[in-house]
Amino acid sequence: MRTQVAIIGGGPSGLLLGALLHKAGIDNVILERQTGDYVLGRIRAGVLEQVAVAALDEVGVGARMHKEGLVHGGFELLFGGKRHRIDMHSLTGHIVMVYGQTEVTRDLMNDRAAKGLTTVYEAKEVSLHDFDGTTPHVIYVHNGQTHRLDCDFIAGCDGFHGVSRASVPKQAIREYEKVYPFGWLGMLSDTPPVSHELIYANTDHGFALCSMRSPTRSRYYVQVPLTDKVEQWSDERFWDQLRLHLDDEARANLVTGPSIEKSIAPLRSFVAEPLRFGRLFLAGDAGHIVPPTGAKGLNLAATDVKYLGSALIEHYQHKSDQGIDHYSERCLRRIWRAERFSWWFTMLMHRFPDESGFNHKVQLAELDYLVHSESAMRSVAENYVGLPLNFGE
Ligand code: APR
Ligand code: PHB
Repeated sequence: MRTQVAIIGGGPSGLLLGALLHKAGIDNVILERQTGDYVLGRIRAGVLEQVAVAALDEVGVGARMHKEGLVHGGFELLFGGKRHRIDMHSLTGHIVMVYGQTEVTRDLMNDRAAKGLTTVYEAKEVSLHDFDGTTPHVIYVHNGQTHRLDCDFIAGCDGFHGVSRASVPKQAIREYEKVYPFGWLGMLSDTPPVSHELIYANTDHGFALCSMRSPTRSRYYVQVPLTDKVEQWSDERFWDQLRLHLDDEARANLVTGPSIEKSIAPLRSFVAEPLRFGRLFLAGDAGHIVPPTGAKGLNLAATDVKYLGSALIEHYQHKSDQGIDHYSERCLRRIWRAERFSWWFTMLMHRFPDESGFNHKVQLAELDYLVHSESAMRSVAENYVGLPLNFGE
């Protein structure tokens, strides 16, 4: 089999890239290790920046997002028993769209299937070949048969644990990483959200986040030690722990119910440099990871894919490789800005196991300054809604 662009990974990055390339008439094949249902079963974040909203609209997949998504003009910070609203819309003129990544993935998957585009699910033993030469190709096993996919380019959209980054010679790649000494225990429940906007809390019990997927489906997180196992957390224990973080009003409004998903995610910051190796490009989680505090993961993936899609379209339609040659540099500038914000917000909002009381007092002092300074709130707001694509250019 031959295609123009072989896409490794059928998550949000791979699916969005495939849609952008198809729209430009560029043939592409997605090789996905899991089944489609497995991919949809992953529960991830749900805050879309304008760049991600625009990308879905661009490929004609935004209708359900606009119908069912929730437009948010602000979020709240909870500390010292009180909530303080960051009015993003008045500070920046922008909003965010609350729409679960699972739904983004579902919309992209359904669109791809409706267009009859090729996605090979349960593609096993994927290996990348000659991506630094002139005959890049991918070998994989499907239904026990070995296949070769010849291509012009390979897009590594296969996430943090994928094969693409692992296929790059060690001497050709630099990795930067910070692992945080705690995790997020997340719960999804078909209960009305405790508030109409997100609440990020820093309390004596650590970090908590009150989020949502719809007016009838809530998403909550509480900080837990890395040693905790989800089996140790009954629904009742989770709700009790969440209540400890909430202010009186939120506690009174909290509606509890059975969990429909519950899991613990570790937090890390990670960046691989560069993101291009000959005819192989890394995009999304394959190239970088952010702690979920700043809700940047999916949005960074969307920006990478926008840059990569434009570069490949320029190659095929205008016989120019300027975009390809600048892909890594353009992505990394935006990635490091989001890494910085996500790191800063994570350091501000969590309790660290070995911290002195001094660290928590400084966190509270910074939060107190932040919510009383329009300049500081504007800085947080412009990073949260997403810096303009041409920022700093
Ligand atoms: N071969 C084929 N597919 C693979 C392989 C492999 N060797 N390894 C991983 N995959 C698939 C995974 O099964 C997954 O479906 O690649 C896909 C990668 O998807 P994600 O991990 O969701 O990464 P990405 O598409 O970049 O989306 C980034 O997901 O993890 C969140 O916070 C992150 O919101 C961000 C988004
Ligand atoms: C979520 O709704 O899952 C979510 C929202 C905001 C975050 C992280 C996760 O910062």
